Amino acid sequence: MKFFLDTAIVDEVAEMVDTGLVDGVTTNPSLIAKTGADMRDTIAAMCALVDGPVSAEVTATEAQGMFDEGVHLRTIAENVCVKVPLTLEGLRATHMLSQAGHPVNVTLCFSSNQALLAAKAGASFVSPFIGRLDDIGLNGLDLISDIRQVYDNYPELETEILAASIRNVVHMRELALIGADVATLPAKVMKDMVKHPLTSSGLEGFLADWKATGQQIL
Ligand code: E4P
Repeated sequence: MKFFLDTAIVDEVAEMVDTGLVDGVTTNPSLIAKTGADMRDTIAAMCALVDGPVSAEVTATEAQGMFDEGVHLRTIAENVCVKVPLTLEGLRATHMLSQAGHPVNVTLCFSSNQALLAAKAGASFVSPFIGRLDDIGLNGLDLISDIRQVYDNYPELETEILAASIRNVVHMRELALIGADVATLPAKVMKDMVKHPLTSSGLEGFLADWKATGQQIL
C-alpha cells in the first residue's frame, strides 16, 4: 500500500520524507489557498522532496482548458500528476491527457460508477473521498470496497484506488484490509498510526529496567 501526504505545506513533507513512508503527495486548491503560498513554488518544492507523484489540480472547467493547464503543470517537474475533477469535461480531459502520456488523478469521486468511468478514461489514479461521505451520514469505506470489487472484476483496468479525505486511523486500518492501492493522509493521521499505548508503556519499562543495569550499548 502506498502512502501519499495530503497537504500543501512543504515543511510537513520535508519533516516526514526521511521516514521512508512517503510515496507521493496530493494537494488541492483549498489546501493551497490555506497556505497562502504560490502554487507553482509549492508543487516544485514538493516534487524535489519526493520521488513519487505530486498531484496538482487544474481549475479550468472545460476539457481543453483542463488539458492546457495540465500540460502546463507538467512542466513544473516530471513527477507532477495532473488532478482533474470527475465531471464529463474532466473525463474528456483525462482521456486527452492520458493519450498524450500525462498521468492523471481523477478527484471528487463519490460512486463506483464514477470510478469505473475514470478508469475507462485512462486515469492513473481515482480519488474517492471517504470522510466527506461519512460527513453526510454515509459510509465512505463502503465506496472503497465497491470500487475494489469493480476494478478486480475487470483486470484490464489499471487505475489505482487512491483513497482520499481520510480523517483517522480507523479509516487507515479498514483501507488496508479492503486493499486500497494508495491512501493520501494528513501528516497527523500518519503519526497517529505509529502510536499504541502498549508500545509506550512497554518502552518505558524496558528503558527503566535497562537504566537499572548501569550498562551502555555505546
Ligand atoms: C485529496 O486528494 C483530497 O483533495 C483531500 O483528501 C480532501 O480531503 P478533505 O475532504 O478533508 O478536504
